[in-house]
Amino acid sequence: MTENAIEAHGLVKRYGDKRALDGVDLDVARGAVCALLGPNGAGKTTAVRVLTTLTAPDAGTATVAGHDIARDPVSVRRSLGLAAQDATVDGLLTGHENLTMIGELHHLGRKVARARADELLEQFSLIDARDKLARDFSGGMRRRLDLAATLVARPEILFLDEPTTGLDPRARNDLWDVLDQLVAQGSTILLTTQYLEEADRLADDIVVVDHGRVIARGDSRALKRQVGGDQLHVVVADRADLDAVAEIVERIARTAPTVDAGARSVSAPAEGGVAAIAELAHALTEAEIRVEDLGLSQPTLDDAFLTLTGAPAPAPAPSDVETQTETVEQTR
Ligand SMILES: Nc1ncnc2c1ncn2[C@@H]1O[C@H](COP(=O)(O)OP(=O)(O)O)[C@@H](O)[C@H]1O
Ligand SMILES: [Mg+2]
Repeated sequence: MTENAIEAHGLVKRYGDKRALDGVDLDVARGAVCALLGPNGAGKTTAVRVLTTLTAPDAGTATVAGHDIARDPVSVRRSLGLAAQDATVDGLLTGHENLTMIGELHHLGRKVARARADELLEQFSLIDARDKLARDFSGGMRRRLDLAATLVARPEILFLDEPTTGLDPRARNDLWDVLDQLVAQGSTILLTTQYLEEADRLADDIVVVDHGRVIARGDSRALKRQVGGDQLHVVVADRADLDAVAEIVERIARTAPTVDAGARSVSAPAEGGVAAIAELAHALTEAEIRVEDLGLSQPTLDDAFLTLTGAPAPAPAPSDVETQTETVEQTR
């Protein structure tokens, strides 16, 4: 048995000329939550499909729960639960029937399967929809039912492929709460997402992928430092104040700000977040500078890609993209 729940080395998956995975390494410790973060087409689903043995890699090796994906796919499958990007529950069955059927497929026996179904419906706040057909569920309810379905057999490791894509903010928050519970129970989770915010909220480790390659990795703090973190920005009413504001911003941000004379704006990375903005507001008031806008903006995935690849997503051809975090740091 290996120490990590998931270990992958040099995974390559080709579709024709296209490398959906182009040498991916991954380590996910037991009990950890790892987010694969990347835009559409980055290779996230392919990575999940390879690790869950739904498709074989062209090169590279991986173990899941200590089992080799090539040599022992049956044990790999037995140790994991997969919530795929497309819903897997049956719309013509009720919530309870769906979960019971899955329990029976896992040989739980009818009575145990029914009890497990009710337990999960309760845990996922779906008990009121117990006897409703799944096709009449809202998007958020359906995702929760999907998630519940993956948990019926109490898998060691959960794979969640874009669990909240397409959900409205409220349904997304509800799902995050459910995932928080799973995390608190010590589940090992590999999830994929296009949202930095989601990776930040849920994951211990974030692996940024693009064009089938890992372009950065780290916890959210490290990653945010790499992508520049929060940005302070000030727009002044009078262009003549720009120099004075640049000085103030530099003092607070402890780094040279970017001045855009045309937009009458000054911006700089802000380590201190909200504290930095309070300090800035105070200093601007003291200096009696008229301000049109003052704010703190968080980096978006686009900002992250811009910083990490030196080009907006989609990034340059894979052969032009450096893979390792060290090179990413050097380019900063
Ligand atoms: N079955 C397939 N046949 C051909 N190309 C595929 C197939 N699956 C994925 N791809 C290609 O591989 C790349 C990665 O896809 P995917 O893993 O689905 O990305 P993501 O899940 O990050 O959006 C994309 O360019 C996609 O078009
Ligand atoms: Mg996908």
